[in-house]
Amino acid sequence: MNKQNILNKIKLNYNKCENCALAKQGRKQVVFGQGNPNANIMFIGEAPGKDEDIQGAPFVGRAGKLLIKMIEAIGYKREDAYISNVVKCRPPNNRTPLPNETNVCKKLILFKEIETINPKVICCLGASATQALLGKDIKISNSRGLFFNLNNIKIMPTFHPAYLLRNPKAKKQVCEDLEKINFYLENIKNRDNAEK
Ligand code: URA
Repeated sequence: MNKQNILNKIKLNYNKCENCALAKQGRKQVVFGQGNPNANIMFIGEAPGKDEDIQGAPFVGRAGKLLIKMIEAIGYKREDAYISNVVKCRPPNNRTPLPNETNVCKKLILFKEIETINPKVICCLGASATQALLGKDIKISNSRGLFFNLNNIKIMPTFHPAYLLRNPKAKKQVCEDLEKINFYLENIKNRDNAEK
């Protein structure tokens, strides 16, 4: 089965998911990851907000528009990346997902998306995504901009774009983090080309 077929199967299996309490708390739909199944880079946020819940796609609201601008600044397009969230259903009033919601959703869906895409780099947007992948003890303030390893994938935590909307000065740090990712991916590309 090719990657797109596997992703389609995940959607089919979970588009009516009721494995956590969010199913009954006003979500309009399950918002799965979106993008290039062969992406080298994957972005993971926290959970869908109002716009994402309505449109059925991750990062399409204000924070998403900022994220895309920043991706474009390092020479990528939205369609080059795979963009997802730890939790696939909108929490009421955009509250932070509860530990049980995070644990259930990452095991049932997010980890399967990651395994399927198998990107070279995952950029974790904010604390929820960072802790979902690297553990509860990791703080975004001292992990951002650093590369971690998870099953042969580089993980780079950075600030969430919603945080940047409130703290525009932090955009500079996120740009630096994205540049590091870009540099890493370019190096891999050059090395692979040299080996051909
Ligand atoms: N914030 C997130 O974490 N994810 C989205 O999809 C939108 C906003």
